[in-house]
Amino acid sequence: MNSSSLILGIDTSCDETSAAVVADGTRILSNIVSSQVKLHAPHGGVVPELASRSHLEILPLAVGQALDEAQIRPSDLTGIAVTSSPGLIGCLLVGLSYAKALGFSLKIPVTTVHHLKAHLFSPFLEHPPIFPFLGLVVSGGHTALYHVKSFDDIHCLGQTVDDAVGEAYDKVGKLLNVGYPGGPIIDRLAKEGNPNAFSFTRARVKKGPFYFSFSGLKTAVALLVRDQGPGTRDQGLKALGHGSPVTSHWSKFIRDIAASFQREAVGALVEKVGQAFDIYPVKAVLVAGGVACNSLLREEIKILSLKRGVDYFIPTPLLCTDNGAMIASVGDHQLSRNFKAPLDSNAYPSAPMW
Ligand code: KG4
Ligand code: ZN
Repeated sequence: MNSSSLILGIDTSCDETSAAVVADGTRILSNIVSSQVKLHAPHGGVVPELASRSHLEILPLAVGQALDEAQIRPSDLTGIAVTSSPGLIGCLLVGLSYAKALGFSLKIPVTTVHHLKAHLFSPFLEHPPIFPFLGLVVSGGHTALYHVKSFDDIHCLGQTVDDAVGEAYDKVGKLLNVGYPGGPIIDRLAKEGNPNAFSFTRARVKKGPFYFSFSGLKTAVALLVRDQGPGTRDQGLKALGHGSPVTSHWSKFIRDIAASFQREAVGALVEKVGQAFDIYPVKAVLVAGGVACNSLLREEIKILSLKRGVDYFIPTPLLCTDNGAMIASVGDHQLSRNFKAPLDSNAYPSAPMW
């Protein structure tokens, strides 16, 4: 293998078990992602205890597969990078303990990576780094806007004061009973609905101009479903073709709600990015995290950045959602600067990025 570094990246922060091998910081040799969606779907959300037990079972298999696909032996690895925060504590501890034990036995360094930093820099797995940039991290657990001048100069302009945008998508999916996780399903249904069917008041957050709030939007959808929904909740899945047919009225209603909700949720994100452009001169905008898979968000960010004359980078969907490659990439950068985790390093449910 002709590379100066070969890093194993591990992420077990939430409901995906992932292991990847990345050469020289950006060359992805393998990126195994095992989703727990089926495990949590009956509960309509992630059950932490089930998640950590599943990581324990799957992680050794995912690491084995990552090494096989990369066609390397464990002894070829030059380091291990693992997510240590933020995330579900039981889940993080599975990955961290595994990484420390493997690093100790192979006598190679381990570095701990902040999950949001990995999302923020994930577009650089596909494009050369460009600074300064605005970075929007949007996932099931986080919604935050950053002004980034270098790998170490990261300023959080604002974040959500309540629900993350992905969480709002998933809760609306639950209200409409269209399946879990709601994000990709709502995105698909929105394409068949009228985005102007319902209008929502945009939240203004007192904390600052770049803070977000999505809980009011979710409540507004809940009230619409309660007051105008033409049937019982189980008609959501039926309207998607599961079970017996339902009235076209209900079918249209959920598509219109999906489209109107999506227009507002994406509008709130893109509006703040536009306002940040006015204040912070940047060369690019980067969007990352699971919600960066969203078709409307991708389109709107593209339009906005073309209008402003800046580059935009949004990873391919596999690199938007949780994955080990983004952890390995940031880990490579940290290890090149000798940022190693001691054997007694710990995991934290939340921690600052720097
Ligand atoms: O980054 P991620 O895999 O995990 C977290 O760190 O949370 O993001 C998962 C989130 C879920 O809330 C999911 O519904 C959302 O990303 N998501 C989407 C789409 N695809 C995934 N939300 C809106 N539109 C999508 N196409
Ligand atoms: Zn994530």
